[in-house]
Amino acid sequence: MNSLADRTAIVTGASKGIGAGIATALAAAGAAVVVNYRSDQLGADRVVRGITAAGGRALAVQGDVADAADVRMLFDTARTEFGPVDILVNNAGVVTFAPLTAISADDFHRMIGTNFWGTVQTTQALAAQDDIDGAAIVNVSTAGTLQFPAFGSLYVATKSAVEAFTIIAAKELGPRGIRVNGIAPGPSDTEGTRSSGFVGSDLESASVAATPLGRTGTPEDYGPLVAFLASDDARWITGDIILASGGQR
Ligand SMILES: NC(=O)c1ccc[n+]([C@@H]2O[C@H](COP(=O)([O-])OP(=O)(O)OC[C@H]3O[C@@H](n4cnc5c(N)ncnc54)[C@H](OP(=O)(O)O)[C@@H]3O)[C@@H](O)[C@H]2O)c1
Repeated sequence: MNSLADRTAIVTGASKGIGAGIATALAAAGAAVVVNYRSDQLGADRVVRGITAAGGRALAVQGDVADAADVRMLFDTARTEFGPVDILVNNAGVVTFAPLTAISADDFHRMIGTNFWGTVQTTQALAAQDDIDGAAIVNVSTAGTLQFPAFGSLYVATKSAVEAFTIIAAKELGPRGIRVNGIAPGPSDTEGTRSSGFVGSDLESASVAATPLGRTGTPEDYGPLVAFLASDDARWITGDIILASGGQR
């Protein structure tokens, strides 16, 4: 197992879904984990309980990544409770698929605010720490940036922005030993894709048929990959986006 002992991680949007799977995997590898959530305190508490029951360290912290004051508070709390933050996973995301003729300014601000600006703000907060000796950032994108699905114009554009930011941040922060990578998950079974109606739909059947490994992803599929990218085993990898989609592209 990749050792993350003595490391402090923030996973944004970890009250459920892919973020919960990542937080659980980082804690299992030894990191103290801040389980960030926006509205679902019960979900975040459940994730923390699962981690502590397994002998790990975790704390739920509310905060909207699109809000500058919340991001400052998130980092302040993490540093006070666990020490300097040297692992950051930007997973918080909002998704709306809609025809381009129907998307609104509200859709734009909601998705760009959380998916892109949230990632920028937390990266700035991590880099503002002058007492870290290197760090690893992992940004959660989507396989949609390779597939360009119809009705995903805004959502996929925000994630393409995240990927561009990932590559540029890796160049700017590399000299400080801060590695910045991304993962691009394929369609996965989460609260988000259940409430959107994807899970159980004809669209999901078509997606599974187009996936060489023949199933929909699960939150547990991504934790080990993120734990690897956060660990010293990935010390020579930065500015990369790793497709994790069961082969669907
Ligand atoms: N599921 C998929 O098929 C899939 C595929 C490719 C990529 N992704 C990406 O993977 C990530 C997770 O997706 P998911 O399906 O697991 O999502 P999900 O089940 O809908 O959960 C979203 C999480 O993000 C949090 N969140 C949303 N806006 C936030 C904000 N402004 N500040 C802080 N937290 C916020 C939510 O918090 P609360 O619930 O507490 O409000 C929740 O914990 C997203 O970035 C998504 O774009 C998902």
